[in-house]
Amino acid sequence: MSLSIIGNWKSNGSLESNKSWIHDFKYSINDPEISNVAICPPFTYLDQMISLTSNLGLSIGSQDIDSSSGARTGSISINACKDIGCCFSIVGHSERREIFGESNMYLRQKLITAQESGFQVIFCIGEPKEQQLAGTTNNFLEKQIIESLSDLELLDGFTIAYEPIWAIGTGKIPDIKDINATHKFIKDIVQSSSKNNFTPNVLYGGSVTSKNAEVLFKEKYIDGALIGGASLNGKEFAEIANIFKNRGF
Ligand code: PGA
Repeated sequence: MSLSIIGNWKSNGSLESNKSWIHDFKYSINDPEISNVAICPPFTYLDQMISLTSNLGLSIGSQDIDSSSGARTGSISINACKDIGCCFSIVGHSERREIFGESNMYLRQKLITAQESGFQVIFCIGEPKEQQLAGTTNNFLEKQIIESLSDLELLDGFTIAYEPIWAIGTGKIPDIKDINATHKFIKDIVQSSSKNNFTPNVLYGGSVTSKNAEVLFKEKYIDGALIGGASLNGKEFAEIANIFKNRGF
């Protein structure tokens, strides 16, 4: 399943506000048959959101998964996610890398477990501001890709989310043509380094809203978006999904 528009709620939501989110989303989405739109609520709301969305095409994923199961206090395994009907996970978000110290090699373990379990992954990469200023974005991204996924057999649906760290939650986004060129670069590196020469879809993430979605989605190599802040509002998120649907190719 290829997912194009994914909301990352981070540590937000509540039993009550999730219900109003669904209401707002439902009345704002143009195509009730959506199949490529998803949200990732916190673990504790996965079950609620899976039941609330059972009559919508919306997919529900987790924001992270552990690389293993068993004696790992506080962690959530892939099997636990699958068990409640969660069908994919974000892995390697920059907040996991920065706040929780997740390295490229550690994330590789998560990817291996996910690929072995047939669990779909949205793998995040992205450069900090210093790399962007120094013009070394591509080197940085290449290292993230090679260290985490070289020689892995990637499953259908494996997707990259390119999120420049300095664009997350800041209202700033890179030049649209630069994003497009970076996505092409990412596709080429993943294709040449993965065992099965897999070319992934590449979503853009970082300050995406209904205002900039149209220009982003016109670009050839931008296959969709991973959306943080703007996904917290069901109406705004549906609007972005509507724009993607109408992008014209
Ligand atoms: P943002 O977050 O849309 O609020 O910039 C994106 C993300 O962190 O995935």
